[in-house]
Amino acid sequence: MRLHILSIILFFIAACSSQPKTESDQTSRTPGPQPASVSSATTSIIAPTPSNYEMKVSGRSFMMDGYQIPLHNSENIPAEEPDAIKSLNDIMIAFFKKQYASGGPTKDPATGLVFQGTRRGVHPRSHGCFKGKLEVNPQLQKNVGIFQKGASYDVTLRFSNGSPQISGDDRSIDTRGFAMKVHNVPGRHLLGDHAMISNETMSQDFTLNSSVPFFSDNAVRYRDFMKILSLEAPTLEDAGKRFIIQLLKQGHPLIAARVTNAFSNIRNVKVTNPLGISYYSITPFQHGSGPDADVVKYKVTPCRGEWQESILANDKFFLRTNLIKHLKNKSACFKFMIQERTNESLAVEDPSKTWSEKKSPFKQIATVQIPVQNPMDEMDCEKMIISPWNTIPEHKPLGGINRIRLPTYLMSVTKRRQTNHY
Ligand code: HEM
Repeated sequence: MRLHILSIILFFIAACSSQPKTESDQTSRTPGPQPASVSSATTSIIAPTPSNYEMKVSGRSFMMDGYQIPLHNSENIPAEEPDAIKSLNDIMIAFFKKQYASGGPTKDPATGLVFQGTRRGVHPRSHGCFKGKLEVNPQLQKNVGIFQKGASYDVTLRFSNGSPQISGDDRSIDTRGFAMKVHNVPGRHLLGDHAMISNETMSQDFTLNSSVPFFSDNAVRYRDFMKILSLEAPTLEDAGKRFIIQLLKQGHPLIAARVTNAFSNIRNVKVTNPLGISYYSITPFQHGSGPDADVVKYKVTPCRGEWQESILANDKFFLRTNLIKHLKNKSACFKFMIQERTNESLAVEDPSKTWSEKKSPFKQIATVQIPVQNPMDEMDCEKMIISPWNTIPEHKPLGGINRIRLPTYLMSVTKRRQTNHY
């Protein structure tokens, strides 16, 4: 039973940061395929460039998908990472083929929308998208990036299940996602004037999941697991078993233990309404300008504490039902918090190690207000492109697990836009 739950979770996880102030924050793009730009009344829609999964490390920066991205002082790219990223490409292609093998249209069982092509590589099952406001505390120790004392931004929120299965049953053990797009932020995008993986030029995205820590310590291990799952194991259960056994055989009992702990934490999150639980960035992000800027992790938590409510046992989509019902009648609110990297023992390259809340408690720096409303149009929600790499330099994603997310989200976005023609 334990392994069964484990393997479901493994399936999800597998599939599954103003103007730059210093020169070292400036990301440059080499000549290459230019993104196609389509004007709309309010935004400039940028067609993402296909990802090639090539990573070249040079000095204290790396080049990926044509972008030269400077490293923060806390980052160190392991020698094996570029190879791991490259081989993840083949694995992701195999994964998409497996997921959408029929090639025919698929109907989303909750929304009724019909798709000709692929959906998000993970997190395709949406509970709904909603509008809100991000209100930055009027009192802050210091202004950093979008977090300027008293600033207020329009946001769009998308709540989801992590599982790659669109049929995803809310009664299954899963990670729940909280994705937030902050609109009209000041400054320049980390990836240049034309954000490669955004459908808005000036927005700042945050992606959080419902538990810590991450199951994989680095890109190599993440690739190893994806290989087992997509290409070798006959079943999901078998993939989970093989992954743990492989870690133990390779002489990594501590990592195997952390993996087991990560799964058990996912299993322990009791969720009856996506508005009633906390979410974590899991991985770290830069908090300021330059290679020696502060580093933080994010958390959002319900303003009046976590809660549970009743559910209809025969409703496969009770999270969606309860969320929509709640916001039809009542507003909601989350505290937006940061956990500072108060000393160097708090790992940047390894998100399977949790940062102790005793050593560094989360502190509220902003509030997410969600007024009474109906959910956004389902197709507009589907088309949203939310990625940790859609960021201004001050909130740059850090560490190996974040680095591999750059080509992977890009590939997922590219596939779904190309195959569904939007
Ligand atoms: C480390 C912690 C991670 C967190 C907190 C996280 C969170 C999320 C969330 C909330 C979404 C849904 C975004 C939306 O609603 O549009 C998402 C999408 C996605 N995630 Fe992650 N994720 C993590 C790691 C990873 C990793 C390591 C990979 C693979 C290398 C990955 C691959 C994806 C993909 C492919 C999508 C769909 C992108 C799209 O087509 O829009 N994630 N993630």
